[in-house]
Amino acid sequence: MHIFAHFSLFCAQIGGIMGKNIAIFASGNGTNAENIIRYFQGNGEVRVKLVLSNRRSAFVLERAARLGVPSACLTKEEWAEGEAVLALMKEAEIDFIVLAGFLARVPDCLLQAYPDKIVNIHPSLLPKFGGKGMYGEHVHEAVLAAGEQESGITIQYINERYDEGAIICQQKCPVLPDDTPDTLAARVHALEYEYYPRVVEQLVLGQR
Ligand code: GAR
Repeated sequence: MHIFAHFSLFCAQIGGIMGKNIAIFASGNGTNAENIIRYFQGNGEVRVKLVLSNRRSAFVLERAARLGVPSACLTKEEWAEGEAVLALMKEAEIDFIVLAGFLARVPDCLLQAYPDKIVNIHPSLLPKFGGKGMYGEHVHEAVLAAGEQESGITIQYINERYDEGAIICQQKCPVLPDDTPDTLAARVHALEYEYYPRVVEQLVLGQR
């Protein structure tokens, strides 16, 4: 076998042994982040190595601390410029980035460094109820105001435009006549908890 082939095989084996590292970006409460961290606890192949936020008061930072996952909060300028974020990704040897209620823009240098390795979850059936300003409870309010019969979740790759990346997976749930934004949010969150970690795992391990 050629020396280069030996080396490639060696790298692949080492990569397999060392596993894959995930970073989660989140801006708020962080229930999805916590669910994903817990899902991968004790997993020999995939681990959540870092949580990043753009909001110092984001409760996700508290959750990460409790779960023993290193976290950091970067400033608006650092997120806009991107190099500090990229440096943290490299330092932590991050292979895959998961957005979980992350409301800032992902820097272009990250999109270039992680093609098809950054995923987002949105609490509606995109392309419905997506775009700028459509996040969290605003989405559920809009779904109810439009009289929709069903809602759900969309897991997608991200690109330069809000909520327009290629769709990986969608799951539906009913909208009930007496729903409030809170009751609908709870039903949608349940779908997120069930599907997001599993889809991330398949993507990270190249099974999807
Ligand atoms: C989730 O429902 C997620 O789908 C949504 O924010 C919520 C975060 O909840 N994301 C967006 O609206 C993105 N446009 P969490 O902080 O409890 O995980």
